[in-house]
Amino acid sequence: MAGGHGQGGHGQGEHGQGQPAEAGAGGSEGSVVLAFCAAAVVALFGATAGRSAPAAAAPGPRVAQRPLDAEAQVVRGRRGVVSSASPEASAAGVAMLRAGGNAVDALVAASFAVSVARPESTGLGGGGFALTWDRATSAWSALDGREVAPAAARASTYATSPRASLDGPRAAGVPGLVAMLARLHREQGRLPWRQVLEPAIRLAEEGVPVTEALARAIERRTDVLARHPASAALFLPGGVPLQAGDRLVQADLGRTLRTLAADGPDAFYRGALAATIAREVEAAGGFLRATDLEGYEVRRREPVVGRYRGATVASFPPPSAGGALLVQMLRVLEGWDLQRLGWHGPEHVHRLAETMRRAYADRSAHVGDPDFVDVPLAWLTSGERAAQIRGEIDLARATPSERVHPGSPTGVERPNTTHISVIDAAGNAASSTQTINTGLGSGYVVPGTGLLLNNEMDDFATEPGRPNAFGLVQGAQNAVAPGRRPLSSMSPTIVLDARGEVALVVGSPGGSKITTAVLQVVSNLLDFGMSPAEAVAAPRVHHQWQPDQLVVEPGLPEATVRGLAARGHRVQVADAGLGDVQAIFVRGPNRTGVSDPRGEGRPAAE
Ligand code: DON
Repeated sequence: MAGGHGQGGHGQGEHGQGQPAEAGAGGSEGSVVLAFCAAAVVALFGATAGRSAPAAAAPGPRVAQRPLDAEAQVVRGRRGVVSSASPEASAAGVAMLRAGGNAVDALVAASFAVSVARPESTGLGGGGFALTWDRATSAWSALDGREVAPAAARASTYATSPRASLDGPRAAGVPGLVAMLARLHREQGRLPWRQVLEPAIRLAEEGVPVTEALARAIERRTDVLARHPASAALFLPGGVPLQAGDRLVQADLGRTLRTLAADGPDAFYRGALAATIAREVEAAGGFLRATDLEGYEVRRREPVVGRYRGATVASFPPPSAGGALLVQMLRVLEGWDLQRLGWHGPEHVHRLAETMRRAYADRSAHVGDPDFVDVPLAWLTSGERAAQIRGEIDLARATPSERVHPGSPTGVERPNTTHISVIDAAGNAASSTQTINTGLGSGYVVPGTGLLLNNEMDDFATEPGRPNAFGLVQGAQNAVAPGRRPLSSMSPTIVLDARGEVALVVGSPGGSKITTAVLQVVSNLLDFGMSPAEAVAAPRVHHQWQPDQLVVEPGLPEATVRGLAARGHRVQVADAGLGDVQAIFVRGPNRTGVSDPRGEGRPAAE
């Protein structure tokens, strides 16, 4: 893989102690179906389209895998397609395409809509990253709408009060989502701003059904929600947690959205709405101030771009670790003929795990906000580092993580979440991952605004050595500092085929598991020629260096699990789905939207 960045464009025991258990996976926590379903597994993995079928892994029974709901979670079209975690958001995006909008209009409308429909995952009180591909000009654009630490935030607060980064207003970074969507729309959208906000306004005012995932998140965060009157009024009406199937009407959020539609996105950062946010947060003991909102800036970044098996893979650069790790891992894997090893046989999964282990070790030491720390991006994604990692991997044995240390850069250099994938009829693509961090974010709704604030402060290394909500152990590169962006795993990705046409638009929630989920979908497509449904539904594995465990989803052949244990891996069966991928696959004129069967998403086509 030819690595590097900046090409083109303008531009577990996975959880730490006492951390909320909801952080482990996408919108699918605890949803793994354990009933054995051999027929579905054969249907999923027995036949593949495209290149030769993946060489069968060791035969034998598999642990259960939730079957892909092929009718509901796959959509085929020849024009625009939107894949998202909410049917309402996918429909909102497609409505923009039908109205003459482009991929960016669809992305922005779907983003506001999913913020309303899936408030446990994302929202205007959060942030995100967006990567777009403009077909006519062959240009990438990467916009960073990540939250930043408020000026008054101090590392000592989080070091001494571990829950401060997770619960209540002190957990919130300055939200960047609205600014990012507004800039995207201003630079690349076609339809009027008001029009792209309309579906979200309607959903907020008319209400949306409470999904299973939202009901579970409310149940888990009842204590925190109950402490804040506006949060309780919204999610615990009359003191009773909303249940799946109830209707969630968000009148305050509807008004906030109407203000943004009428006065423009600046209203969020300046003026009456900003003043309300700042006043309420200060009164509730948080750090966010009017000056933080006024000073918030979206950053344009250079995407990380590499090549893999003849395709071009573009993903998000720091302050996400996603793109750097994805390209590094692909470069390592490209040294082996994975297809010959047999899909999900022990030889294959061992190489995957050892590659992931070393990539996450590098993440812990070297990646942070590039505006504050030097990130050795060229080295991380270099052929030299990939070859070094390949050379260190013992093909017969797992290397205990305590013996794996982050590499030393040679040469000096400068440094509950949701995903939406869009392609429009002209072949432009947009890929954006957005988040308020863990389920229901900080649990703090700003009174009078309907805005649920994020708890992104927990993505910092709040204390050296203390694992965050995703079990990630991180270093000084990611320490809390005013104005700094916390390190992210979000990996919105676009893959171009050898002719430079979009082949895949992909991304996922899942905290630390985001990047490995994206990696496996890319490899399933490019190494194994799987069909879109297979590439997304196939069981996944995950290793993040610390804790030293190989997490495998049910569905891996038992012989593989035994083979991995024999090589010294500490295999842990995932208690929840590893990610919730929203993808679009393009082959010739055919576009296939797929929402991960691990979650509740639904793609839609024009
Ligand atoms: O930016 C990050 O890496 C995290 N805040 C993402 C959180 C997430 O994916 C939660 N979903 N399960």
